[in-house]
Amino acid sequence: MKVATHQLRCTECGARIAGSAVNSIFRCPDCNGLYDVIYPWSSTPYGDAPDSGSNLPNVSALRWLWQERRTSTLPVDQSGVWRFRDLFPIVEDVDHVVTLREGNTPLYELPRASKALGLNWVFAKHQGMNPTGSFKDTGMTAALSVARERGFEWVACASTGNTSAAMAAYAARAGMRSIVFIPEGKIAWGKLSQSMDYGALTIQLRTDFDGCVRVLTDLVNEFPIMLLNSVNPYRLEGQKTPAFEMLEQLEWQVPEHVIVPGGNLANGSALAKGFSEMHHLGLIPRVPKISIIQAEGANPLYRSLVENGGEELIPVKANTRATAIRIGNPASWRKALRALRTTGGWCEQASEQEIALAKAEIGAEGIGCEPASAVTLAGLKKLVAQGKIGTDERVVLVLTGHTLKDSNYTIDYHRGELFTDEENASISPQDHLLHAALRKPPIVLEPDTDTVFRELEAQMKLVHA
Ligand code: F0G
Repeated sequence: MKVATHQLRCTECGARIAGSAVNSIFRCPDCNGLYDVIYPWSSTPYGDAPDSGSNLPNVSALRWLWQERRTSTLPVDQSGVWRFRDLFPIVEDVDHVVTLREGNTPLYELPRASKALGLNWVFAKHQGMNPTGSFKDTGMTAALSVARERGFEWVACASTGNTSAAMAAYAARAGMRSIVFIPEGKIAWGKLSQSMDYGALTIQLRTDFDGCVRVLTDLVNEFPIMLLNSVNPYRLEGQKTPAFEMLEQLEWQVPEHVIVPGGNLANGSALAKGFSEMHHLGLIPRVPKISIIQAEGANPLYRSLVENGGEELIPVKANTRATAIRIGNPASWRKALRALRTTGGWCEQASEQEIALAKAEIGAEGIGCEPASAVTLAGLKKLVAQGKIGTDERVVLVLTGHTLKDSNYTIDYHRGELFTDEENASISPQDHLLHAALRKPPIVLEPDTDTVFRELEAQMKLVHA
């Protein structure tokens, strides 16, 4: 693999540069646009027309090779990201790859959710089953490998908790140093503990995520530190690979819909790029519609689409208990818009109560996820109610984080302590019943057999009632 096999292309003005020529903030010096990584075989809208004479990879050979690598003992082959490296040649030497064997995540059926929604087919691609418990690992292995190959000693990010956990882990594996900026008091403890556990220099700033990004930008402009937020386009090359893996798991049958949560708004576009490249190469006959769901309290893309058709971003002061997506001024909103438009998907929002209900429902399927991931099911319900998703259409929800990432949220929910009185009052009687059936608070008893048996009898009667 040679560096010359890829370039960066500005998503706004189309300027192309060598990957090694990019500036420290990963933005076009002429128009401030973000970059896409493109290859000689890339197609519009995710690159220019293929270079004349560029050979498209042979798709039958690729499918065979990707399967074959599953039986290999090489770390890069065991990685569910690098197994697909033929479609993202971003490092010169695979020996530079930093991997924790990310990817290879399960695709679970959600029978109860499908039934409740009257759909035949709903699956969850559980990206929370990655080494640090979120989808960020798929992007971090890619971008951190590039950072290592380019000789960086330090990497940094601003984060709502998952990017920082992933970056800290991969930097530690590579023997590199990492700096994390997180909004003080506004991320889940499990995530904060991860960045400390993996040895990052963790800096809590008395601001929100958007404030952390501002400080980080100044830092990388001054020092030789690679920025690992999702404006770094190499992250998205790793984050596109779950699209390949999902299709492989579905025996190359393309679902009609893929639904993702939206925060800084990069992941939807990463998956869209993956699907679009597979389509261009002839691996699949069409692309799924990609829909992006935001929390109502952190809904700048949704608001912008409603209020000005997506012409301008309307930043918001973000506030949601789904702290992973508590972002008011998302960097990659234009990329997200492009993903919605090129695939024909929608943007929706979900309230705090809808997110909590969806999370409990995913938990009750024996799967679980963090609150931000549950917006996907909450959004699916709305898209079905609006008639945008039909009974026979196949849906994949991308669950981005593991349920253990934010156990405080789960405990508060089941104890009935999550919502304010005002929030409780606005829950519909029908949803109240659903919440009541799902809530499973711990029961505290004296360690006496009779007492325990009596309580169990009462509980079993309740279940059979
Ligand atoms: N789900 C989870 C669990 C996340 O951690 C994030 C983003 C998203 C969804 C949204 O993805 O930003 O590409 O739209 N977390 C970032 C972080 C911002 O710092 O961990 P996006």
